[in-house]
Amino acid sequence: MLKSKVINGWNLFWLISLPISSAVILKMTKVDLSTARGVSSMIEIAVRCAVPLLYVTFAASAVNVLYPGDFGRWILRNRKFLGLAFAAAMAWQLTFILWMVTRHADHYVNRIYALSDVIEGIGGYTLLIAMTTTSFKFGRSRLTPKQWKILHTVGIYWLWTYAFITYWWYLFYSNQPLVINYIYYWMGFLAWGMRMAAWTSRRWQKANGEASGVATWLPGAAVAIVGLLGVTFGSPWGKAIYDFGFSIPALNTIGVYTPYFPFVPYYPLVLMMLGAGLALKIRQQSAAAG
Ligand code: HEM
Repeated sequence: MLKSKVINGWNLFWLISLPISSAVILKMTKVDLSTARGVSSMIEIAVRCAVPLLYVTFAASAVNVLYPGDFGRWILRNRKFLGLAFAAAMAWQLTFILWMVTRHADHYVNRIYALSDVIEGIGGYTLLIAMTTTSFKFGRSRLTPKQWKILHTVGIYWLWTYAFITYWWYLFYSNQPLVINYIYYWMGFLAWGMRMAAWTSRRWQKANGEASGVATWLPGAAVAIVGLLGVTFGSPWGKAIYDFGFSIPALNTIGVYTPYFPFVPYYPLVLMMLGAGLALKIRQQSAAAG
C-alpha cells in the first residue's frame, strides 16, 4: 500500500495541500478579515496545518533508523514532498502575515511586533524559501551536496526551533495551556526525541561492547530523566531564567538581535543529549576495556 502512486511523490503533495488550502479558504469565508482578530485566526489555522508536516519532515530520517522497513522508507522517500507541503501551508501563513502587517499595521505594531520575533521569522522564511528552491533541480544544481546538506539541516532545525519555542512559551511563559498547545509542544519534542534516539542507537550499536548492564546506561539515563523533567515542567525554572535575562540590559539587547536567545527551551534537551552521551561513553570505555 505504501508503494501506491496515490500516496507517493506529487500525488502525496496534492493529497495534503489541497485539503489544507480548502480548509484555509473555508475559514476565510467564516471570519471577518476586516478585523485583526480575524486575520490572526487565519495565521493560526495556516501554521497549525503546517507544523505537523514540519515535525514529520524533521523526524523522517530518524524514523528510518529506528523503524527500518516499508514505513521508514516511505517517509524518507517522500520527505521532499512532505517538506514542500509544509512550505505550501507556510505560504498561506505568510499571506496572512502580510495582510496583518499591511491592513492592520496598528494592531501588528502595538500588539504583535517584537524585533527578535521578526528576526527569527524572517530568518525562518528565508531558509524555507532557499530549502524549497533547492528541492528542485535548478536550485539544487547551484549547491555542492555538502552545501545542500548544511542548508537543509540548519533550515529544518531553525524552523523546528521556532515552532517548538513558540509552544514552549505558550505553555510555560505566557500560560496559555490550550490542549492544542500541549499537543503541538509534545509532538515537537517527540520529533526531536526520535532524532536523538536514532543518533544514540546508531552509536550504541557501533560500540559493540558486551557491557550493557545497568551500570552502563543508568548514570546516563538518570541525567536524561532530569532533562525530561525539565521538558515537562518548564515554568518554574524557565520563566526565572528569562526574567533574569530580561532584567539585565546587556542580555536584553543580545536577546533582541540573537535568534532564540537565551535558548531556554533547549537546556533540558542538551541535558538529555549529555545523558545519552554519558551512557555511550561508559559503553565505549567498557568495550575498550574489553
Ligand atoms: C516574520 C515572520 C513571521 C511573523 C510576522 C509571524 C507572525 C505570527 C503571528 C502574528 C502569530 C499569532 C497568531 C495568533 O494570534 O495566534 C503566529 C503564530 C505562530 N507562528 Fe508565526 N510568524 C512568522 C514566521 C513564522 C515561522 C518561520 C514559523 C515556523 C514554523 C512560525 C510558526 C508559528 C507558530 C508555530 C505559531 C503558533 C500558532 C498557534 O497558535 O498554534 N511563524 N505567527
